[in-house]
Formats: sequence, structure tokens, C-alpha cells
Amino acid sequence: MNKMIAFGAAAVVALAIGQATADEEAELVIDGQAFVTKLDAPDDSPLPEILSGWRFRNSETQELQTDDFENPAMIFAEYGEELWATAEGETGKSCADCHGDASESMRGLRASMPRWHEGKDTLFTLEDHINWSREEHQKAKPWKWESQEMLAMTAYIGLQSRGMPVAVKTDGKAAPWFEKGKELYYTRVGQLDMACAHCHENNYGNMIRADHLSQGQINGFPVYRLKWQGMGSLHRRFKGCMDNIRATPYKRGSDEFTALELYLASRGQGLSVETPSLRN
Ligand code: HEC
Ligand code: HEC
Repeated sequence: MNKMIAFGAAAVVALAIGQATADEEAELVIDGQAFVTKLDAPDDSPLPEILSGWRFRNSETQELQTDDFENPAMIFAEYGEELWATAEGETGKSCADCHGDASESMRGLRASMPRWHEGKDTLFTLEDHINWSREEHQKAKPWKWESQEMLAMTAYIGLQSRGMPVAVKTDGKAAPWFEKGKELYYTRVGQLDMACAHCHENNYGNMIRADHLSQGQINGFPVYRLKWQGMGSLHRRFKGCMDNIRATPYKRGSDEFTALELYLASRGQGLSVETPSLRN
């Protein structure tokens, strides 16, 4: 028998998990730039190999991401670029007034998220960095986590790291967050009594209802989802997964989701940042 046993019969019936026959061997190239979507896992990894979520999408969705003119997520990145140059808040300054050219000042940032913030002495997601800067430096109101502005700005800043390898720090002050994230990843929750690991570690490659299960990597976020007909944050995706197993989701921006984000980023070290990517 196989690893689905671990689910318990109820979950298998409720979620209809089956085998998939999709092509997971395609290679991602955008504008001549090759992306790392598959790599050998280090010895201490719980995964035999590391695979980007892009590999699990059907060829139609995959293709949309290879062409910036076709990828609807790019419209958000463009909106982010506009916001970057828009004066706001009591200072009357734009992000660009202080940070200059984002392709220089923001390059590499997304690849290192989430990261420790010395000023606030806590672990910061990209959204946290942006809102901190708006409040502390620009003297503007923070953006709501799932607002169009925040999604556009995280897409735009993320784009400046596109193609760079995910490289998060999990030691030092971040270590307890890493441990917390790991614990959450393996903890069963919800009416279906499942952990993230049941789907994304034990069953990636299999079908669940009509969906092809991936490793739940986060290197493409924020993503444009055809189902959402719009852009969504990583924490929205976490919430969706928790809703699906009928668990009470944590809040976007909560310590729990931030810890999970760090842990998941660490499971994808070395994958290319694909932000902003496309999902079904
Ligand atoms: C008045 C100047 C000023 C404005 C305007 C400003 N920032 Fe900042 N920002 C800073 C300073 C100074 C820092 C570094 C210190 C810190 O993190 O508090 C910073 C840090 C950041 C960081 C973390 C960068 C890193 O490498 O650690 C991000 C991301 C950021 N700002 C985004 C933005 C965005 C997006 C806007 C516009 C919505 C913006 N900032 C507007 C001054 C500004
Ligand atoms: C019942 C199975 C199931 C469980 C349990 C589950 N997910 Fe998912 N998750 C999915 C499905 C289905 C998708 C969409 C297809 C895919 O990318 O795997 C998804 C997608 C994701 C993605 C997006 C991956 C991408 O490349 O777009 C992330 C991140 C994610 N899940 C994280 C989590 C986390 C964190 C947990 C635990 C809190 C969790 N999931 C629990 C089924 C599950």
C-alpha cells in the first residue's frame, strides 16, 4: 500500500486523492533567462528533490508564465512601479525619492524574505518591511495586507529578485521562528485532522480533486490565480489551505503564518524567485 494510508480513510474519500499523469519535466525560461525549478535537496532536507510549483501546473498555465505580455500578474507589477513613484504621506515623498531605482535598491530582497528587522526586533515579511517604511519613514498609512496596493508593491519589489536563488537565514534570532514554522507544518489541524506535510510532503505529484498537488513552495508569491481572477498573497494561500481542511486559519501577517513562511522558504532554498507567478 502507499503513503495515502497516513491520511485516514475519511480524508481520502472527502478529498478524492488520486494519481496524476502531468508532465513535470518542463523547463521554465522567460525572455531567454532560465529558472531553477528543480534541484537536488540537501542531505538534511525532508524532500528527495526540490520542485517549484510551476512544474505542477498544466502546460497552458505554465506557458502564460513564460511570457510577460501574457502573464496577468505583470499588470500588478506595473501598477507597483507606478506606486513606487507616487508621493504620499506627511513627507510628501515617494518610495523612489528615498530608495531610488528599485532594480538596484530592492534587488535580492524578496529572495531573503522573511528576514530579521533590527529596528522592530522581530521577523519581517516583505509586507511588514513595506508597511514599516510607510509608517516610520514616509509617514503614510499602512496598506491592508490583501489590498491591491500591497499586492502590486510586493509583486514589483519581488520582480527585482526574479531569477535569484531563494536564500533565507534560519539561524540566529530567526531560529525559534524556524522551529515554530516547522512545528506548525507537521501539526494536524482541522476537522480533517491533516498537516501541511500530508499533502505537500507525502503526496506531491498526486491529484487532489482536480488539482495537481505541489510541494507548496513559495518562490512565486504573490501569485495571480485564475481562480481568484486576481492577485493573492502567500498568507491568503495559507488561509485557503487551512480552510480546505476545515481548520480555523491564522490571520494574515500573524506570527504563525510568518513562521510558516520562513520554514517554507527554507524548504525551497536555491529555487529561483519567480515572482510574480501564475497559478490556476
Ligand atoms: C522618507 C524616506 C522613505 C520613504 C518615502 C520610503 N522609505 Fe522605505 N525605507 C527607508 C529607510 C531609511 C529604510 C531602512 C531602515 C528601516 O528598515 O527602517 C527603509 C526600508 C525599506 C525596506 C526594507 C529594505 C531593506 O533592504 O531592508 C523596504 C522594502 C522599503 N523601505 C520599502 C518602501 C516602499 C515600498 C516605500 C513606498 C511605499 C518606501 N519604502 C518609502 C526610507 C523610506
Ligand atoms: C488537503 C491537502 C492540503 C493541505 C493539508 C494543505 N494544502 Fe497547501 N495546497 C493544496 C492544494 C490542492 C494546492 C494547490 C495545488 C498545489 O500547488 O499544490 C495547495 C497550494 C499551496 C501553496 C501554493 C504553492 C504554489 O506553488 O502555488 C502553498 C504555499 C501551500 N499550499 C501551503 C500550505 C500550507 C502552509 C499548509 C498547512 C497549513 C497546506 N498548504 C496544507 C492542498 C493542501
